[in-house]
Amino acid sequence: MLNIILCGAPGSGKGTQSSFIVQKYGLQHLSTGDVLRAEITTGSELGKQIDALISKGNLVPDDMMYGVIENYISSLPQDCKGTIFDGYPRTVAQAESLTKLLKKYKMDAIMIDLMVDEQLLIQRLIERGKVSGRKDDNLNTIRHRIAVYHQQTEPIAHYYLHQGNYFAVNGNHTMADVFLQIMRILEIYGR
Ligand code: AP5
Ligand code: MG
Repeated sequence: MLNIILCGAPGSGKGTQSSFIVQKYGLQHLSTGDVLRAEITTGSELGKQIDALISKGNLVPDDMMYGVIENYISSLPQDCKGTIFDGYPRTVAQAESLTKLLKKYKMDAIMIDLMVDEQLLIQRLIERGKVSGRKDDNLNTIRHRIAVYHQQTEPIAHYYLHQGNYFAVNGNHTMADVFLQIMRILEIYGR
């Protein structure tokens, strides 16, 4: 089974590369951002709380995310080829929880980190904001999301580096070039 933690700043191409990986390798794709946005559209009380956090570019609490991931992993079908975790984990506490959960189900994962220059991230998200309808795709919130990424998410790179399953990819290139780098990693290190 091939589990991939696809990490990177907002706009680094996690969703874009996930769809390429799904097409080529037949993995499942779990985007925690998509799961949360789906909850918002239900109009539930929980959705309202999530909306308030996402709209400002803040993270949803770790315990709330744990429920989403536990539920997902525990209901994976037997014949699942693996999962791309897009946007999870996003804190060291989430990384620790995911390691424990994967271990419980006798699974592991490699981490692929999409590295993209800040100016390019902002350009991409501003451009996407013209059509995405995402409340967090505006300059102020984009800047805040990037700051949150540096403060809370970047430290997980060290966590996976210590575990020996960390791979960095230069995400500044074209979508096809970035995917080529990912394919090389999966050919050599994918399990
Ligand atoms: P989430 O939905 O994960 O958003 P994000 O991390 O901010 O990232 P994006 O989805 O904006 O970008 P992406 O990296 O997927 O890039 P994409 O491929 O779309 O999370 C949203 C919010 O949910 C968080 O802020 C938080 O509040 C909450 N949340 C989610 N997970 C959580 C968790 N685990 N814990 C707590 N809270 C959580 O590409 C962007 C644009 O660039 C697109 O238009 C694309 O076409 C273009 N593009 C992509 N690659 C290239 C390329 N190589 N060249 C040119 N253009 C490109
Ligand atoms: Mg995304």
